[in-house]
Amino acid sequence: MEAVSFRYPDGQPALHEVSLEIPAGGAVGILGSNGAGKSTLMLHLNGLLRGSGTVRIGDLLITERTLAAVRSRVGLVFQNPDDQLFMPTVADDVAFGPRHQGCKPGLVEERVRQALRAVGADALMARPPHHLSLGQKKRVALATVLAMDCEVLVLDEPTSGLDPRGRRELTRLLASLPQTRVISTHDLEFTLELCEQVVVLHEGRVVAQGPTRAVLADGDLMERTGLEIPHSLRHSHEE
Ligand SMILES: Nc1ncnc2c1ncn2[C@@H]1O[C@H](COP(=O)(O)OP(=O)(O)OP(=O)(O)O)[C@@H](O)[C@H]1O
Ligand SMILES: [Mg+2]
Repeated sequence: MEAVSFRYPDGQPALHEVSLEIPAGGAVGILGSNGAGKSTLMLHLNGLLRGSGTVRIGDLLITERTLAAVRSRVGLVFQNPDDQLFMPTVADDVAFGPRHQGCKPGLVEERVRQALRAVGADALMARPPHHLSLGQKKRVALATVLAMDCEVLVLDEPTSGLDPRGRRELTRLLASLPQTRVISTHDLEFTLELCEQVVVLHEGRVVAQGPTRAVLADGDLMERTGLEIPHSLRHSHEE
């Protein structure tokens, strides 16, 4: 992203001159307190929102003309799974992406099965998504994007609403994926486990970017941006 600024139609400013570079194949955490601009930033990564400045996915500049190509490269999982799930059954929802990409029925079926297994939701296949619990919906929403086999995964608060085992399994799953992963979260321990790098947003601006441990151990920065030093790092400081 280069010098991206964005204001919502009602005039609310949300991003100011945001510039950042995310290495291909890595996992990067996007941190910041409520309203800092994380979701707004993520929606720019597949062109759902377009402010001033430029966003590039590899060598592909996001413009009106490249949106379709961008969206087949970048899989975005919304913060709220109700924004993602709209088909009558879980299986249909997960099949929607690969079908749209032109996969043959056999491959669609295989992708659906694999994606649901990866998120521990195989048993939910025939259920209507709107009847699922929040954590179940979060898993299925992630599966809809895994099934598309994108190069870049943009995940907005993937652990919120998950039970401890679900969170552990998700951490393991995300750590094992070869794709570039951009993950917004309030879950700093999860960030420590998964992300080599983090970006800290505050009031729509990038205020820090660097190796996760170093950034999260910076007490002044954490205080200033409404975050907290994670427990595991606090301990290592006291010892
Ligand atoms: N649709 C919208 N219309 C107007 N303002 C919005 C809209 N969505 C978000 N905002 C505003 O934009 C700013 C950034 O919001 P954003 O949702 O990106 O924050 P966030 O970091 O994702 O917060 P959270 O941790 O609560 O998810 C906030 O001031 C918010 O009130
Ligand atoms: Mg958000």
